Amino acid sequence: MGKSLDNPNIIIDVHLDGQDPKALRAEIHDGLLSSPRRLPTKYFYDDRGSELYERICELPEYYQARTEHQILTRFADEVAATSRANELVELGSGAATKTRVLLNAMARAERLRFYVPFDFSEGIVRRVAHELVNEYAGLQVHGVVGDFLVHLEHIPDGGRRLVVFLGGTIGNMGPEAALAFLTSIQAGMALDDYFLLGVQLITDVDRLEAAYNDAAGVTAEFNKNILHVMQAMVGADFDPDAFEHVARYNHEQHRIEMHLRSVRDQVVHLPDLNLTLTLAEGEEILTEISTKYDRQQTEALLSKAGFDMVAWYTDPEELHGLALTKKS
Ligand code: SAH
Ligand code: AVI
Repeated sequence: MGKSLDNPNIIIDVHLDGQDPKALRAEIHDGLLSSPRRLPTKYFYDDRGSELYERICELPEYYQARTEHQILTRFADEVAATSRANELVELGSGAATKTRVLLNAMARAERLRFYVPFDFSEGIVRRVAHELVNEYAGLQVHGVVGDFLVHLEHIPDGGRRLVVFLGGTIGNMGPEAALAFLTSIQAGMALDDYFLLGVQLITDVDRLEAAYNDAAGVTAEFNKNILHVMQAMVGADFDPDAFEHVARYNHEQHRIEMHLRSVRDQVVHLPDLNLTLTLAEGEEILTEISTKYDRQQTEALLSKAGFDMVAWYTDPEELHGLALTKKS
């Protein structure tokens, strides 16, 4: 928990230290032994992983980020006017690149007072807090470093809120986790708060697969970064060169699945987990799912979580959607 010593407009609370290391290790251990083997997606995002994700967002193949940016540019004033919010709470805020479009609209409406970036990556929350207090006169930033699946209750009390969850990060959760997560967001909101959810839409498979198999290999680096994080976290001796990046579309579940495939028979030691992993050539570890939705599925999911859709914004090609909602 802490205040920023050098800027009175910044407070940063860190909740990750309180997490039980045994539970974190058990999650990794059990994932690696499950079928399919998997690693928790949130561990992509150390400082290096966050930078790689920022680079992904600039790639020609990764149309998702720029499309969401375009939709926000077109509709941010309407979102600001409808919500009349003076506080923006952003879950999985990352580099807050697209967030500026919303902050600008709230500033134009002369309502902008508070910004609450909530992310797993402490480095990026601190960086964004400092950038934004310099960019927006009078803005107070109260950052929360935590796991949004665990620490949502630590969102500070504040003003009239617009809660946002952008980028299609909801797609990185399975259906049950997505519903549970949205339900807990809903439970923490006041009746006149608004919630804006970004979803990646189902589209042409070649286009989707290309977005996760970029020619420059940045997504492959991002995928392998989880192995570096595992080295640091649990002393694993994963050799990133012994794995290849694989991303393919699962039609049934309408989602991209990212894997790390072992390029040879190998043994990996994870001393902190008391685990020795024997991987055969071709064996895969699932590192990420990225579910694509359509408008109907989005509305149904939101409705189950207790939200009414107020507006649906999309781009002309319907590649991305933004659902503006209120508590039912
Ligand atoms: N919203 C930004 C960033 C998306 S990347 C955008 O649209 O571009 C996903 C972000 O969610 C990363 O910054 C990552 O650190 C964060 N994240 C992923 N899982 C998380 C979790 N369980 N708790 C908190 N933050 C998480
Ligand atoms: C953060 N999230 C929405 C991205 C996605 O598209 O699922 C993460 C990502 N993984 C590979 N490229 C981008």
